[in-house]
Amino acid sequence: MGVGVLGMGQYLPTKVVTNKDMEKLVDTTDEWIKTRTGIEERRFAEDDINTSDMAYFAALQALEKANVSVDEIDLILTATVTPDTPFPSVSCMVQERLGAKNAAALDVSAACSGFMYGMITAKQFIETNAYKKILVIGAEKLSKITNWEDRSTCVLLGDGAGAAVMGEVSEGKGILSFELGSNGAGGKELYQNEQDMLVMNGREVYKFAVRQMPESTVNVIDKAGLQKEDVDYLIPHQANIRIMEAARERLGISEDKMATTIKKYGNNSAASIPMALAEAANEGKIKDDDIVVLVGFGGGLTWGAVAIRWGK
Ligand code: ACO
Repeated sequence: MGVGVLGMGQYLPTKVVTNKDMEKLVDTTDEWIKTRTGIEERRFAEDDINTSDMAYFAALQALEKANVSVDEIDLILTATVTPDTPFPSVSCMVQERLGAKNAAALDVSAACSGFMYGMITAKQFIETNAYKKILVIGAEKLSKITNWEDRSTCVLLGDGAGAAVMGEVSEGKGILSFELGSNGAGGKELYQNEQDMLVMNGREVYKFAVRQMPESTVNVIDKAGLQKEDVDYLIPHQANIRIMEAARERLGISEDKMATTIKKYGNNSAASIPMALAEAANEGKIKDDDIVVLVGFGGGLTWGAVAIRWGK
């Protein structure tokens, strides 16, 4: 049997903040942000919208797209670094709000790689027949851990959520290969400090990412027995357009085959990849039988990549 995605959902906060708006908050320019990162605007959640609210709305849409009823959900996995509270988990909050009475629930902590860790965890439960349908969510309200006095990080981040309903798909479709990894020694380069603010050594993270993303992308293509030219759509973690371009160039694929939601949403940590995947899937950019590669990296340090043959 194959294990794959049955439906995707996305939640976008309504508050749009442009680079010009950021110029009023910190000493920066639209030009600097655009050329160094590729970001033009980002979304911030309203004060009364927390991570679990965004996760819930994305999950609702994913269930609808998958045509799966809430009672069928056996497990909810939410990847996030910005839970409403350390406990109860965001997944438990979503479970209650959805009324998913048959679902177990837990959060996944792997920073920006969290959605890939969630997907691969879900795959194990489905493959072993322990569970049939699993909601995997990536949701972040990064604006609540942003240091507004640090211009090198505050211009990068945005809020949002994406969700996938995962389950059994036809043989040959679904997840073909994956790679997950970590290097705890790099934890000091990207972390949340005692004041609950995100701290990042941008140059070190950049060096790590620009090497890891292309490498992991090529590794999952090899493991799936595919060639670079078989890739129809690449969804890298939306952290910096220059890092994303490094992965795209290593594959030798054209610009239209790579998701670049970073322009509109900035970096949404664990939500970046599922948001971009939901948008591409629901806008019909990804078609049945397409080979889709997801690849991310983040705090931990962690990384993960997944190759999927799209469709049920
Ligand atoms: N506006 C204007 N100038 C700025 C800004 C800003 N917002 N931020 C930094 N600068 C200045 C610096 O002070 C520095 O000035 P100096 O030369 O006078 O000292 C200059 O710009 C260059 O700074 P660098 O840090 O060298 O800039 P760089 O080109 O490396 O870009 C960036 C910084 C965008 C953070 C880059 O390092 C990067 O993208 N790193 C990786 C980030 C990442 O991928 N994080 C992912 C994990 S975080 C997460 O996903 C939640």
